[in-house]
Amino acid sequence: IKLSGGEEYRPAYHFTPPAQWMNDPNGMVYFEGEYHLFYQHFPDSNVWGPMHWGHAVSEDMINWEHLPIALYPDSLGYIFSGSAVIDWQNTSGFGTRDNPPMVAIYTYHDPVGADARRIDFQTQGIAYSLDRGRSWTKYQQNPVLENPGIIDFRDPKVSWNEEFQQWTMILAVKDHVNIYSSPDLKEWKLESEFGQSIGAHGGVWECPDLFPLTDENETEKWVMLVSINPGGPQGGSATQYFVGDFDGSVFTPGDSTIRWVDYGADNYAGVTWSDVPESDGRRLFLGWMSNWQYAVAVPTDNWRSAMTLPRELKLLTINDQPVLQSVPVEELGEHFETSSSIDSGGQLESAAYKLELSNIPESGLELIFENNIAEKLTISLSKDELLIDRTSSGLSDFNDLFASVHKAPLPDVEIEKLQIFMDKSSIEVFVNDGLVVMTDLMFPNEVYTSISFTEGLDVKMSSLKSDLVEL
Ligand code: FRU
Repeated sequence: IKLSGGEEYRPAYHFTPPAQWMNDPNGMVYFEGEYHLFYQHFPDSNVWGPMHWGHAVSEDMINWEHLPIALYPDSLGYIFSGSAVIDWQNTSGFGTRDNPPMVAIYTYHDPVGADARRIDFQTQGIAYSLDRGRSWTKYQQNPVLENPGIIDFRDPKVSWNEEFQQWTMILAVKDHVNIYSSPDLKEWKLESEFGQSIGAHGGVWECPDLFPLTDENETEKWVMLVSINPGGPQGGSATQYFVGDFDGSVFTPGDSTIRWVDYGADNYAGVTWSDVPESDGRRLFLGWMSNWQYAVAVPTDNWRSAMTLPRELKLLTINDQPVLQSVPVEELGEHFETSSSIDSGGQLESAAYKLELSNIPESGLELIFENNIAEKLTISLSKDELLIDRTSSGLSDFNDLFASVHKAPLPDVEIEKLQIFMDKSSIEVFVNDGLVVMTDLMFPNEVYTSISFTEGLDVKMSSLKSDLVEL
């Protein structure tokens, strides 16, 4: 099967825009049976440009229905990243308690101000919908948060704080985050700053998130996600996290260790869904499956960029260290056939499937995918490291940094299983149910049709059900 830059690399079970450019996931919110996904989108080109919010909805975060663009640029600027919430108590007054408004909180990026080298060109605005996100009205008195004179001032993530009966906003400000509070989503008060002297600082801080998670001992902790670009563990973009306490005003980290959500090269700007019902209780995450190092150059034409698989975030303690675990959502299960064991040296018949590796030899493992023109992708695991080698995985001449080897350190625990989600141009590897994760893109010129692996390893394959996308 030949692959090329048209539709052939378009994933079979990952979200992609209908056409043209996409970056960060935005405004992820659950309402009346639908998961909403908005996203940074430029509908006129396959490279970054004036940003809009594209929009899609899903009942299971896998099968998506595309909807019309939700937010267009206006006189205040492009619509950069942000979040959405359901204002159940109608604190904003945009709706009623019977029909609570869905409110989007986003960054305005004023290109004229940026061109004129004014440093206050990013501000925050809000918009609301009273019809399940189908149509949007921007607030007349935008912006709701003026810029204090800082070039990077963006990506508001808002949540309702039940204990303090107020809204909390976390916002990226160049090399730290600001935390604000509000009674009504319109008036914002600065509560605290966090981050100048802690965490990774190889690049600008972007797309933060802040939420509580209960660990395996039923202790509630607060997790802060902060994407940085560049400065990630594989170079370029990546997302770090902090675990600590939050008193409604100030976030206090438990320690100063630098931790990463994903050790692959291609999971950026990920945040979590708002308003997932308490009866469900999950903290659900999705990231942009690319890296600013080469995002605008990857070899696809009609569309550019996909999202990672949706993942449930959990908090664990491993050897006295907090670990944010990323578990592929259970909804994925329904999209795959029941699994069957395969042999090393066997033939692969499609480009989209799931593998489950168990009976892992103590000395580790190696797993190689290869096509008929000797392009190959290698995964290996040793006692203390997971590695993906995509140096000869396929096309890489679009960027010097793409052909690379990526390594993730492993905690000192017994590695019992690996789950690998393979799609047409991406691979996601989850160690022990997501204790360590690596997400990487690759662009083979032909589908990998052979698989070989370490003796003794048990490999089960489940193919994708054809009801999703024709392969
Ligand atoms: C992250 C980011 C955000 C910004 C958006 C612009 O990838 O740079 O900080 O809001 O993309 O598209």
